[in-house]
Amino acid sequence: MARLESPADLERFRQQLISHRDPNLPCVTICSGTGCQAYRAEDVADTFVREIEKQGLKKKVSVRPTGCHGFCERGPIVVIFPQEICYLGVSSKDIPEVLSQTIVENRLVDRLLYKDIKTGQSIAYESEIPFYKSQNRILLGNNRLINPRSIDDYIALGGYSALTKALFELGRDKVLQMIKDANLRGRGGGGFPTGIKWETTRNAPGEPKYVIVNADEGDPGAYMNRSLLEGNPHSVLEGLIIGAYVIGSNQGFVYVRQEYPLAVQNVAIAIEQAREYGLLGKNILGSGFNFDVKVHRGAGAFVSGESSALMTAIEGRVGEPRPKYIRTAVSGIEGKPSTLNNVETWANVPLIMNKGVDWFKSIGSESNPGTKIFSLVGKVNNTGLVEVPLGTTLREIIFDIGGGIPKGKEFKAVQTGGPSGGCIPRSMLDMPVDFDELTKIGSMMGSGGMIVMDEDTCMVDIARYFVNFLCEESCAKCVPCREGLRQMLIILNNICSGKGKEQDIELLQEIAEVMQDASLCALGTTAANPVLSTIKYFRDEYEAHIREKRCPAGVCRELITYYILPEKCQACLICLRNCPADAISGSKGIVHVIDQTKCTKCGTCFEVCPTRFEAVVKLSGEPVLASTAGTKVTRRRRGKYGQHKTGN
Ligand SMILES: Cc1cc2nc3c(=O)[nH]c(=O)nc-3n(C[C@H](O)[C@H](O)[C@H](O)COP(=O)(O)O)c2cc1C
Ligand code: FES
Repeated sequence: MARLESPADLERFRQQLISHRDPNLPCVTICSGTGCQAYRAEDVADTFVREIEKQGLKKKVSVRPTGCHGFCERGPIVVIFPQEICYLGVSSKDIPEVLSQTIVENRLVDRLLYKDIKTGQSIAYESEIPFYKSQNRILLGNNRLINPRSIDDYIALGGYSALTKALFELGRDKVLQMIKDANLRGRGGGGFPTGIKWETTRNAPGEPKYVIVNADEGDPGAYMNRSLLEGNPHSVLEGLIIGAYVIGSNQGFVYVRQEYPLAVQNVAIAIEQAREYGLLGKNILGSGFNFDVKVHRGAGAFVSGESSALMTAIEGRVGEPRPKYIRTAVSGIEGKPSTLNNVETWANVPLIMNKGVDWFKSIGSESNPGTKIFSLVGKVNNTGLVEVPLGTTLREIIFDIGGGIPKGKEFKAVQTGGPSGGCIPRSMLDMPVDFDELTKIGSMMGSGGMIVMDEDTCMVDIARYFVNFLCEESCAKCVPCREGLRQMLIILNNICSGKGKEQDIELLQEIAEVMQDASLCALGTTAANPVLSTIKYFRDEYEAHIREKRCPAGVCRELITYYILPEKCQACLICLRNCPADAISGSKGIVHVIDQTKCTKCGTCFEVCPTRFEAVVKLSGEPVLASTAGTKVTRRRRGKYGQHKTGN
């Protein structure tokens, strides 16, 4: 491919690409994102190619690998265009049938279709699946249409037209004004206005200036940046080139964690292709603007996602934060002005250029325009990536899109904002999700992680989990964060193991205050959020642990006891045989008994006891009844007991 020397060249090339495509020719697209690859999507793609050859269908159908569709738990996902028939959980052995039925006979393969959770009815088209129906996928939508390794696919869909508009029609000032007018707020957590950050770097003294994509994404359970970067890398690159042009930067970086190998590969390929086409490098499209990009692979520390730490890592030093008396927008890499934006923030830029400020502001709310991608995980029926207008309520996200809580359990809380976010209770389900609302209630947006918890979750244990994560991930450079997290963890461990003291809650709050006021970086200043939010909304659980030595959710090991109800035990030997600690005695006809001195509380007996007996119970805060060793079994008629295992 020859270099594109001008916008006219690019336009001609686009028309050529479009004219070679027949929109009515069936196209089998196979998701090749990381999630589907884990389900052997590569085998599925290879088998499609082989089987098409074998069935002599080469002229009747084409095949395209695509980026992540967001519904990764149901992968590998195959969507057949132009009808957009969506097959889930496809394996290689299904492919001859998919081709002979759907491509040749125009019939659906029912078993591969989505089944509605409530009605059990099959849903054939991707856009009608409830998980997708209420989303507004302005950023993720193209993932399903393009091969992430093909710049031609991106260009055919209008790619790089925003860049030509910025370079040749609008110019630097107008582009900056558009980003400001659109009120694009940074998607990496804080919601800082992107236009103001760009302007600060542009006006700051010092050359060279740098622009950077933050694809560190270290939050547990979050993968929206990965999916966007690996699924549509050119959308991020195009935004970055436009930003560099406005700011006056000739060098950019994509900082992406090493644990994202596919994103690293796909973005490196995209950069190479853009260079070859003259969309990166010297004199881009004949505009006189020079700009190039390097990929920097991060070593996977959560704290390296923080702006000063990330820039220190790019300089080749350990990725630890430094005091930000002067913002990185003014003094970043090597002390030079540097603008860092999140993957999603950059990907919004071409959309605003192409579709306009009014269009962007028509989505979301006045102070929070546009969409946000959330990674919806945990105790929810449909897990995956969800893109919705900012201001959508938690209820809509968790119940309409996520399909509610599995196994008929009750919703308890949702944790937003990654490890330093807060836990939001049921009473706030109708709260609109945006940068400001989440901060007001003691949580935050973070980069978009959303972990749903059901009634079986202990909120003290959850706070302990996140504090433990942050304790391990803190760079330990400043005392409030290093010691504050360590002390919090000790206190939470004590509470969870029944050694909590009356004054512990107040002590946790005091430590949190110091950390918020005095930590070096935002890891420390926000680290107390999981503790403070769980104390605020679930104080009764802390009190039950401390005062009654009881874990209401039956999670904290040291506070629970497994007990076999003698009147329900049918002496079936199942728990006895499965107990890994040999802690259960009894025999045929004789009630089984757990020796509490040997029991490791692994819960195996509780899991394996047949639901028709429900003889094993979990007790917390109650004394274990006197030994029943040697008691004979009372025979019960089947079906007398409930189907659900009893809680504490
Ligand atoms: C401990 C820590 C980790 C962070 N990790 C990320 C990250 O993985 N991705 C990200 O975009 N921002 C992360 N941030 C926020 C960045 O410091 C920075 O604010 C953001 O990248 C700016 O981009 P934006 O204006 O587009 O949001 C992190 C902040 C902290 C304190
Ligand atoms: S990786 Fe296939 S849907 Fe996400």
